[in-house]
Amino acid sequence: MKFLQYSVLPFLLVVVILSLSGATLAHSHGDFLLCLSLHLANSSTISKVIYMRNNPSYSSVLNASIQNTRFSTPATPKPLAIITPLKTSHIQSTIYCSKKHGLQLRIRSGGHDFEGLSYVSEVPFVILDLLNFRAVKVDTKNKVAWVQSGATLGELYYGIAAKTKTLAFPAGICPTVGIGGHFSGGGYGILIRKYGLAADHIIDAQLIDANGRILNRKSMGEDLFWAIRGGGGNTFGIVLAWKIKLVPVPAVVTVFTVNKNLEQNVTKILHRWQYIAHKLPDDLYVDVGITKVSSSQAGKKTVQVAFIALFLGGVDELIPLVQERFPELGLAKENCSEMSWAESVLYFGRAPRKSLDILLDKNVIPRTIFKAKSDYVKEPIPESGIEGFLSMFLEKEADFAAMLMVPFGGKMEEIPENELPYPHRAGNLFQASYIVGWRKEENAESGKYISWIRRFYSYMATYVSKSPREAYFNYRDLDIGSNNISGYTSYQQASIWGFKYFKNNFKRLVQVKTTVDPMNFFRNEQSIPPLSSP
Ligand code: FDA
Repeated sequence: MKFLQYSVLPFLLVVVILSLSGATLAHSHGDFLLCLSLHLANSSTISKVIYMRNNPSYSSVLNASIQNTRFSTPATPKPLAIITPLKTSHIQSTIYCSKKHGLQLRIRSGGHDFEGLSYVSEVPFVILDLLNFRAVKVDTKNKVAWVQSGATLGELYYGIAAKTKTLAFPAGICPTVGIGGHFSGGGYGILIRKYGLAADHIIDAQLIDANGRILNRKSMGEDLFWAIRGGGGNTFGIVLAWKIKLVPVPAVVTVFTVNKNLEQNVTKILHRWQYIAHKLPDDLYVDVGITKVSSSQAGKKTVQVAFIALFLGGVDELIPLVQERFPELGLAKENCSEMSWAESVLYFGRAPRKSLDILLDKNVIPRTIFKAKSDYVKEPIPESGIEGFLSMFLEKEADFAAMLMVPFGGKMEEIPENELPYPHRAGNLFQASYIVGWRKEENAESGKYISWIRRFYSYMATYVSKSPREAYFNYRDLDIGSNNISGYTSYQQASIWGFKYFKNNFKRLVQVKTTVDPMNFFRNEQSIPPLSSP
């Protein structure tokens, strides 16, 4: 004990008492905390880094990054402790101690995982929350940036916009999404047709592996560097930071929204969109959002289809282009607004556009309870098929349901399927995703909403990719398959979900995992398993 500072002792006493009171914490939990506190060995650091269940701030730190509140109920399994490292050595100590004492580690950046896997586990676990790793360094001269995993997309976009209006980054539209999970699963946004995915623009990374080694692109090698750019988080290591290439955009871009509902011939327009959207010039992105809304007839509901677009240019160039290529939309100048690219992110994220400071607000997107699923569509859906899914939005379980159709083509058509783990490239007309939400008071009836989205997904089966039925990793869906909660998961079992997310790239991901983490230290319900049992 000589090497410990005197002030650490009260903390250690708490740890020892907790470890001895088996009713409160299992023995290994106390051992883990003792191990970690010995490694940190500084009382002021310990109080800023370790949040145990009896800490008054435990709940607020846990809840601060829970986006899907389906996983924030009294019945949700809670971590033994939340570790919020201030420096790299704290992460290395957390890996060492959780490995030594058999606790599962869940890595959390922005906490937007659809199934809550970054902060929920059925086996004893601790959360490593990267909330203090959020630096963004933008170098406009070389058109690159370093961004730490705990930063949000909003913080990255703000950092770019603070320096220039003519550089951007092709990632998601929700400013509160965390960099760590988003980049690990691919990451797409409104620049997807022009530039592809976020992962396509990562040129270096800093990662800590299961042995606590700090690696960069050169020292990790090209196989592991390939795997972390889309092969999913919580599998290969903890990515601390990413070096990204920024992309050019005009200082002024144009956005528009055109809403059509069931009474406005929407089926035919949506049917046409499928033939047009993926073939438009790469500078034009027109996605589709479908929701139930109030009809103009009192007391009635209808289905609204919103065509929302980003054009990398001015309104005067956009209007004739859309009138020529997609006249059915009836686009008028009053539907359009010119703005900077960073403002267009807020427009798409439905965030208020008063000031770009909103990009820094971690609470700007309301937290909701939801279940979501995704698909890829390679052939246009016939009008009868469209009518069928639009009518499902009129069912009572769909009050808080939505469908998003993201056009592909452009850059996505050019990148080979095995370039990165994300395989859904050429030949896709669009990505479809479905989401259903409900109110907290309705939690007891959550089953009926989940049944609705499963029925919706079954209905779509006829019209979407098959063998495998592809899915987007970042729209995590445990319905499509899962690893064993504890114990070994075979290649065959993981293939059930693995080929849906990664197609043939799954095989290479398993090889990389077997090489870099054969003991399967980094794992969750949908992490890539090593080839043989550790
Ligand atoms: P979170 O912290 O929950 O992590 C997700 C997974 O990655 C977990 O398994 C976690 O353990 C692991 N992980 C996190 N940080 C890691 C790190 N540093 N190293 C290793 N593993 C790590 N997607 C998209 O492509 N485009 C979009 O526009 C949107 N929009 C969107 C809006 C909203 C409201 C939500 C809830 C989600 C999206 N998404 C999205 C999906 C999003 O990309 C996906 O949920 C990401 O995994 C979220 O990353 P976070 O870091 O926030 O999640």
